[in-house]
Amino acid sequence: MTTTPENTWKTVDEIADAVLSCTNCRLHENRTNAVPGDGSPVASILIIGEGPGFNEDQQGLPFVGRSGKLLDELLAQVPLSRKDVFITNVVKCRPPDNRDPLPDEVAACKPYLQRQLDLINPKVIVTLGRHSLLRYYPEGRISKDHGRIIKLDDRVLFPLYHPAAGLRNPAIKRDLQEDVMRLPEAIREALTMGVSQQPEADSDSNSEVTESQASQISEPIIENTQSEKEEGDQQLGLF
Ligand code: URA
Ligand code: SF4
Repeated sequence: MTTTPENTWKTVDEIADAVLSCTNCRLHENRTNAVPGDGSPVASILIIGEGPGFNEDQQGLPFVGRSGKLLDELLAQVPLSRKDVFITNVVKCRPPDNRDPLPDEVAACKPYLQRQLDLINPKVIVTLGRHSLLRYYPEGRISKDHGRIIKLDDRVLFPLYHPAAGLRNPAIKRDLQEDVMRLPEAIREALTMGVSQQPEADSDSNSEVTESQASQISEPIIENTQSEKEEGDQQLGLF
């Protein structure tokens, strides 16, 4: 097993390089391409899916199949494009037959996602589907929590159904279309939250967050440069 020296990755590109040659779990054995993630390294919004599917494995990019097309349509409603966000997955290599990633695979891949979170330092984390939600909000229920603005320390967690579920079920697709329209509100909420503030309940009143959940969201280790900050501010200006 190779090591994962997460604190030596200074940029999102360095994380990607490490992912491309990673052999830390069995998922490397059947991959065509690892899929580190794609988008702006200073995005205010980090979108986290579950794991690459067939098309993503072929192309080395996240959400490029039918789910990706629906995700693009949902972002366009806001309106946002891929360059405004960063999109990645809980595991970076395709699980065989699109099965759920196993706990040891999620654990092996965790340093990459954790470091992406540290370096990108988004204001809002959008989880897609149940597995990605539970990683940040263990007692979450996707059927209850989709579209809610959940304050976690100085960030907002904004869970959505997985687009693949929307492709299978028209009611879920409608929920996705409605929920995504609250993304600007999620950003605005996040901007009102200072680093020193304690997590507060949101207006839905059922978003209390325990310390252990909040501690899963890390503080940035590396400061963004001035030009990166300006780019980030410009994105936030959209809202
Ligand atoms: N589903 C996911 O969870 N991630 C992708 O990248 C594509 C489909
Ligand atoms: Fe490495 Fe993650 Fe791919 Fe497993 S899924 S081989 S931990 S990059």
